[in-house]
Amino acid sequence: MKLDLIDIKKAYGEKTVLDIPQMTIEEGKITGIAGPNGSGKSTLLNIISHIDDTYNGKVKYNGMDFSRDIAKNITYVFQKPYLFRRSVYDNILYPLKLRKLDKKTQENLVKDIMKRLEIENLSNKRGHQLSGGESQKVALARALVFKPHLLLLDEPTSNIDSESVKVMEREIVRFNKEREGTVLIVTHNLDQAQRICDTTIYLDSGRVSN
Ligand SMILES: Nc1ncnc2c1ncn2[C@@H]1O[C@H](COP(=O)(O)OP(=O)(O)O)[C@@H](O)[C@H]1O
Ligand SMILES: [Mg+2]
Repeated sequence: MKLDLIDIKKAYGEKTVLDIPQMTIEEGKITGIAGPNGSGKSTLLNIISHIDDTYNGKVKYNGMDFSRDIAKNITYVFQKPYLFRRSVYDNILYPLKLRKLDKKTQENLVKDIMKRLEIENLSNKRGHQLSGGESQKVALARALVFKPHLLLLDEPTSNIDSESVKVMEREIVRFNKEREGTVLIVTHNLDQAQRICDTTIYLDSGRVSN
């Protein structure tokens, strides 16, 4: 999914926190969003995902306005993911249930993504019993399992040990290559941006900087 942002302005009270005259996010690419705390990275994802619709300007999705159909093809993984108080398996199954795939297919997809992210051992644990890092891995699995056209990731590896970071990066890249899914990833880690992003946009005080 290609995104065009046109004259985006977002303010809290008197304070402008995002001011982007023009930005294009290319289809099928991994685009990094980097910048210091408070520079507007999460605000940008909130606007693109339409969680926040109190802004000025326009976001176009493959040239179209936001709609329910577009929403269905976007997944947003929050920095502090919200998981249900059910098993990890059920959490990952949930998006497939919504889409009414047949039972066997659902089961295979869930098992496959758990294996790829190396979280099979968490299958029976419940959402609220997981550590921060485990929750981030499960949330990524739940996002990847149904193959969205646009994947929004807010600092997905911020609480993660280096071994798991490798696994997550590998699966994000694989999703991008195999599914040609567009990925927008907020990261503090410039090494990570260099490793996996095709381009990186730097934000500073709500503006794109070089
Ligand atoms: N609900 C809110 N009310 C007031 N100010 C907010 C709110 N959410 C974010 N901000 C402010 O907007 C700016 C951008 O925040 P954010 O997008 O979360 O930054 P980042 O994700 O880059 O750390 C910050 O100055 C933050 O304090
Ligand atoms: Mg943030």
